[in-house]
Amino acid sequence: MPSEGTRAVHAGLPPAHPDRPFLDGPVFAGTYHQIGDPTGPYAYGRYANPTWAALESAVAELEGAADAVVFASGMAAVSGTLLALAEPGHIVVLPSDGYPATRTVGAHLAARGVTVRSAPTAGDAQAAELAGADLLWLETPSNPGLDVCDIARLAGLARAEGALVAVDNSLATPLGQQPLALGADISVASGTKALTGHSDILLGYVACADQAVADRIRGWRTLTGGIPGPMEAWLAHRSLATLHLRLDRQAANALALAELLTARPEAADVRHPGRPGDAAHELASRQMRRFGCIVSFTLADTATAERFLDALELVAEATSFGGVHSIAERRGRWPGDDVPPGFVRFSVGCEDTEDLLADVVDALGKACG
Ligand SMILES: Cc1ncc(COP(=O)(O)O)c(C=O)c1O
Repeated sequence: MPSEGTRAVHAGLPPAHPDRPFLDGPVFAGTYHQIGDPTGPYAYGRYANPTWAALESAVAELEGAADAVVFASGMAAVSGTLLALAEPGHIVVLPSDGYPATRTVGAHLAARGVTVRSAPTAGDAQAAELAGADLLWLETPSNPGLDVCDIARLAGLARAEGALVAVDNSLATPLGQQPLALGADISVASGTKALTGHSDILLGYVACADQAVADRIRGWRTLTGGIPGPMEAWLAHRSLATLHLRLDRQAANALALAELLTARPEAADVRHPGRPGDAAHELASRQMRRFGCIVSFTLADTATAERFLDALELVAEATSFGGVHSIAERRGRWPGDDVPPGFVRFSVGCEDTEDLLADVVDALGKACG
């Protein structure tokens, strides 16, 4: 089998055919010609679309999945998975430090008769909540705390309880971490982030080891309509070909930034799973091949963090992560994350390393000097 960069370049492309493009353009269709009883997949725009189908085959290939289902956003994928699989009376175990909107979906499940338990990502603490569970949801590395849990170990414990295991793979992407190969049943992600990487679309996907699980989730999407636009799906597919190149540059920049910050007195609690010495590094090295683009750290207080963000010239103040442009934000400006006031989430882009580091050093001097 070709190695992963080669597969990212070619994933989901049709066989070579004279006079055809490498990747067919987006198919814009609300409805399709359909005579008599439906025979093919393409009957109505909410049910299926060839542009999604090509992207789904690419994502399934990269995740090592039987099938993938693309959604309009990461939250459409997250909520579609949780709502399609969790039934009244079920027990669902969530990370207490995961993406806040996922925990809010958990609160909706709890209001509808699902027992929702939660525990932190670090130290595999969710293991203690697994008795009788039906679904274990992991987010590793967690956003924004960057803690890591042992997917293979937790998947083994969950399987012994008869639970399905889903991993939010938004931060790592399938070229950084392969949850299904580590024993999970489902890899779900916001494709808005590094997967597509240009900060210009929203997208989500669910990749499943078992076709029957994918069918349930696709059925839910058809029913509730959280479908991506064809243009977004096409842009996402076009972006996959550079995924390994973007991730490699981002990982190198993130490591350089984490090392720089670790040596600076102004920044405390610097976290990046790729940095030797980080609390998560040993475990992350066992289950990840690339460590992602986020570096988090804490400055003295809100005012210092805001002065730092204002002083950055190259790095935009914005929320999200995974794009080719470096961005940073004071995470405490949003409700939901349990972080100190001066906590900064920095998403490292693809700029040249020396320019990025110089901008950070300059901004630290202006903010803290
Ligand atoms: C870990 C994680 N999962 C899911 C989502 C939701 O993705 P989207 O914003 O594409 O709906 C996010 C968004 O930041 C995220 O960080």
